[in-house]
Amino acid sequence: MEWCARRYGEVFTLRLALGPPTVMVSEPRLVERVLALTAEAASAGAENAILAPLLGDRSVLMLDGPEHVRQRRLLLPFFHGERMRGHEAAIAAIAAAEVRTWPQGRPFPLLPRMRDVTFEIILRVVFGLEDSAALPEVRRSLRRLVEMGGSWMTVPALRRDLGRLSPWGRFVRLRARVDTLLREEVRLRRRRAAASGPGGPGGCAIDALIDHMDDGELVDALVTLLVAGHETTATSLAWCFELLLRRPDVVDRVRGEARAGSSRLLDAAIREVLRLRPVFRYTSRRLRAPLALGAYTIPAGVAVGAGIYLAQHRADQYRSPHEFEPERFLSEAPPTGSWVPFGGGLRRCVGASFATFEMAVIVRTVLALARLRPASARPERVALHAVTMVPGRGARVVLEQRTG
Ligand code: HEM
Repeated sequence: MEWCARRYGEVFTLRLALGPPTVMVSEPRLVERVLALTAEAASAGAENAILAPLLGDRSVLMLDGPEHVRQRRLLLPFFHGERMRGHEAAIAAIAAAEVRTWPQGRPFPLLPRMRDVTFEIILRVVFGLEDSAALPEVRRSLRRLVEMGGSWMTVPALRRDLGRLSPWGRFVRLRARVDTLLREEVRLRRRRAAASGPGGPGGCAIDALIDHMDDGELVDALVTLLVAGHETTATSLAWCFELLLRRPDVVDRVRGEARAGSSRLLDAAIREVLRLRPVFRYTSRRLRAPLALGAYTIPAGVAVGAGIYLAQHRADQYRSPHEFEPERFLSEAPPTGSWVPFGGGLRRCVGASFATFEMAVIVRTVLALARLRPASARPERVALHAVTMVPGRGARVVLEQRTG
């Protein structure tokens, strides 16, 4: 992306093996224009279609237009306000239990540990499976499903069901098994909700959606929340520790703030992590009609990409754009169109508030319980894991001392 921007400038076209050409923009006003496109002007569902076998045809990511707006309205309340904050203790407990399993005195990568934490949070907090007898099997099946779903299966040419021994055959059967398991759980909740009267008993996403979706739609929504919410947040957490631990002065101040019941610097640090190391390089829309963009007219059928990484590394928007400086967000809000780690417009990430809240709770919990240092003096480079940008060595750290 950086090479293309240097070579071709503000607007360039990516021609990748899968999908149509993508016209990439990074100038803040153009980024805003792309993110503000309406469902009549462009489709995001078409750009996400490759994920349909994993997420299901009725996933919010596959939809456009009124059906998409309807699902977003149903999903959003769970990820905001009091409902979200009510889960703080449960999130902290899951993180604390994870820290207790970490080895002391020898290097280990944090990224897989953070994946475990965010996976458990989705299952226990978002799905509300804490006390469910089905939890172990749901965990096992979903784990295998997301592992398979993030690999070769994105290549449509390899999708041939040649029975249960073929890779695609195994994937299709596993998705069907997950469907059955989650439908059983949903039915159980419906019975429980009916017994406890209007409003239902719990505070998880299943309980919030149960009166508004049929079983199939609800299952697709759950798989979508897991896939969209677990790897992304784990990656940002891994980057957070990788960057933060190289600034011991900031770590000390964050600890001090936490003791005083504040999180001003931590919130600024999380913003800065998401700016410097966004999970996604870009997010795209497929044009339904020609679009005038800067000096160009882009034809229908072509995709346009809001260049998240490039927009967030612009020297005309940020002083020292390649440095990790949490202090920059203490006094200033991010500039418009240049801080877009969660995309924007009609498709802005449904879990954005939840993800930043979850990250803050986990970072505070870990820093309270453990003294960590980076395993190497050399900062980790960016590596690609499917479509996400992860720390090259998995954010390797050493736990020096337990403190909690
Ligand atoms: C740091 C963590 C996260 C990052 C960086 C992230 C990033 C993104 C991005 C870039 C998009 C596409 C937005 C667009 O095209 O304009 C997106 C969409 C979405 N995200 Fe997240 N996400 C994160 C966490 C979560 C969590 C925790 C959840 C829920 C549990 C979630 C659920 C979704 C959903 C459902 C969509 C689709 C929205 C739509 O199509 O209307 N994400 N996310």
